[in-house]
Amino acid sequence: METVWVCRLQFYIFFFLLASSSISVGGSNILFFHGVSTASHRTAIWPLAEKLADAGHNVTYIFPVTKRLGSHPRIEEFAPSKMVPLIGDFVSDFDINIRLNDQEMEWMRQAYSQSVVFCEAFYDSPEIQEWLARPDLHYDLVMLDALGECGYGLVHKFKAKHILFVPLLAPFLHDGFGLMPETSSIPELSLHYKPTELTFFNRVSNTLMILFWRYSYLDFIRNVEPVIKDKLNLTEFPPIAEFEKNTSLVLINNHWVEDYPISLPPMFVSFSGLGCKKEPVANPLPEKVSKFLEDADGFIYISFGSAVVASAMPISLRDEFFAALKSLPKLRFLWRWTGRVPDNTPENVLLLPWFPQHDILAHPKIKGFVTQAGRPSTQEALCYAVPLIAIPMFADQDYNADRMEYIGGAIRLDIKNISSALLQESIHELAYNPKHKERMVELSNMFKDRPIDPLDNAFYWTEYVLRYDTSLLKPLGINQTWYQRRLLDVYLFLFVVAGTVAGTVMFFTVMIFKYAFALVFSKQQKTKAE
Ligand SMILES: *[C@@H]1O[C@H](CO)[C@@H](O)[C@H](O)[C@H]1NC(C)=O
Ligand SMILES: *[C@@H]1O[C@H](CO)[C@@H](O)[C@H](O)[C@H]1NC(C)=O
Ligand SMILES: *[C@@H]1O[C@H](CO)[C@@H](O)[C@H](O)[C@H]1NC(C)=O
Ligand SMILES: *[C@@H]1O[C@H](CO)[C@@H](O)[C@H](O)[C@H]1NC(C)=O
Repeated sequence: METVWVCRLQFYIFFFLLASSSISVGGSNILFFHGVSTASHRTAIWPLAEKLADAGHNVTYIFPVTKRLGSHPRIEEFAPSKMVPLIGDFVSDFDINIRLNDQEMEWMRQAYSQSVVFCEAFYDSPEIQEWLARPDLHYDLVMLDALGECGYGLVHKFKAKHILFVPLLAPFLHDGFGLMPETSSIPELSLHYKPTELTFFNRVSNTLMILFWRYSYLDFIRNVEPVIKDKLNLTEFPPIAEFEKNTSLVLINNHWVEDYPISLPPMFVSFSGLGCKKEPVANPLPEKVSKFLEDADGFIYISFGSAVVASAMPISLRDEFFAALKSLPKLRFLWRWTGRVPDNTPENVLLLPWFPQHDILAHPKIKGFVTQAGRPSTQEALCYAVPLIAIPMFADQDYNADRMEYIGGAIRLDIKNISSALLQESIHELAYNPKHKERMVELSNMFKDRPIDPLDNAFYWTEYVLRYDTSLLKPLGINQTWYQRRLLDVYLFLFVVAGTVAGTVMFFTVMIFKYAFALVFSKQQKTKAE
């Protein structure tokens, strides 16, 4: 009798432990922080913040852009007022002319130097100072966006764990997390090589470029450290590279359909496809839009994303676009266009500052999407199986466009090379050759076929960090130097050993030959003499 009870008790305890190890640990305080970002950065991670709030966590969300979609009654949001206009000037209004004049690399490098200025503005913003002065303010977990290094001050202040969420494996991240960059086969982001173009010398620059990025990143974070120390009145602030090593988890917005098949250690968890439903539902379109599409065979959606101002393009380029669209009268075009609507806009083109992108992409009449190939737009196109014309502008867009072209999901064009004829031909091909749609349906199915919903997965891993210490998930190489990680010391050693051995062998061979020659020669001399 007694043993039965003991058994039962054991069973209950076991069951309780099992249950408590996997149920939600609701009731933690979680802080999201974005540094340099466009509106799309929030779109990418916001569903996770909502899910955490729904599960009973207190969520605070800091985002330096005021243009935003949706809110949540249980999420407290801040837009640091001194930081918002600076970010707006820098990133939210990317000028196509920067691309046309080949200045986008310099523009990207400025993100580093500008981040220091943004960080000062963040801590100087009155609402942030008020918030920081609240008594008993405390957080268990800080979620940091890429280029949100300023937020390490908050990690330090709250003695919190932190998770990094990144749009992709940026070239400066590898060495911070002990990863060996796969530069032999995977193109580096800023050089714009296609995977088929990695010749010997391109692999050399591919490899050096990653070292260069890391070097300039380390230089940049050293400039952020004194700002944080000063603004938080700290006497001591550890190097940011040390915080980087202490990162509990990296949530990465990539999937092997839209990105190359990169090898990542267990501390990297993909959250690509948050918000993409397996069987997407489309809401009806606004009346103005649905009227416009009423008697059309099909339509093409054009959007260069939230950051690019299409209306700022040179008039000659705009007229190339308009001429191409006008020459395809059976199709309608919806173009996300901020600014003045030009008088010569063709009749089959509707320019509006905003479209409900999900519902547009889910519409049965859509034939294609002309995009800058930002990560969220590429993912949404995959989600709804809409074939692409990719015209990249900056950041990771060339990389994404190259990947999509490589797997047959996009026709890639160069904005500098656009003519109405090329554009017309490409749009005609996309809309009327069924192979593009068929391939995109295939890719879409592969993208959406998951063992677990990406949002549930990201939520699970976020709570996993709250439950455990995650050091077991980290690559052992995290504590190695850049040359140990690349085995350069080993190859150098082997090279020296092989050289020494070869040299020694050669030396003795020569000696033996010399000796043998001398011997034979002297013998011959002897015989001749006799
Ligand atoms: C979460 O917020 C609620 C309401 O503001 C507060 O009562 C509660 O103490 C907070 N939880 C924690 C863990 O701080
Ligand atoms: C730092 O010190 C200054 C001056 O004493 C004060 O105004 C400010 O609020 C402090 N900042 C923080 C974050 O404690
Ligand atoms: C990193 O983690 C180690 C071990 O937990 C700790 O001693 C150290 O203070 C941490 N460093 C930073 C900068 O958080
Ligand atoms: C520019 O367009 C022409 C055809 O119109 C094409 O042959 C060429 O490869 C393009 N160049 C670039 C850089 O895309």
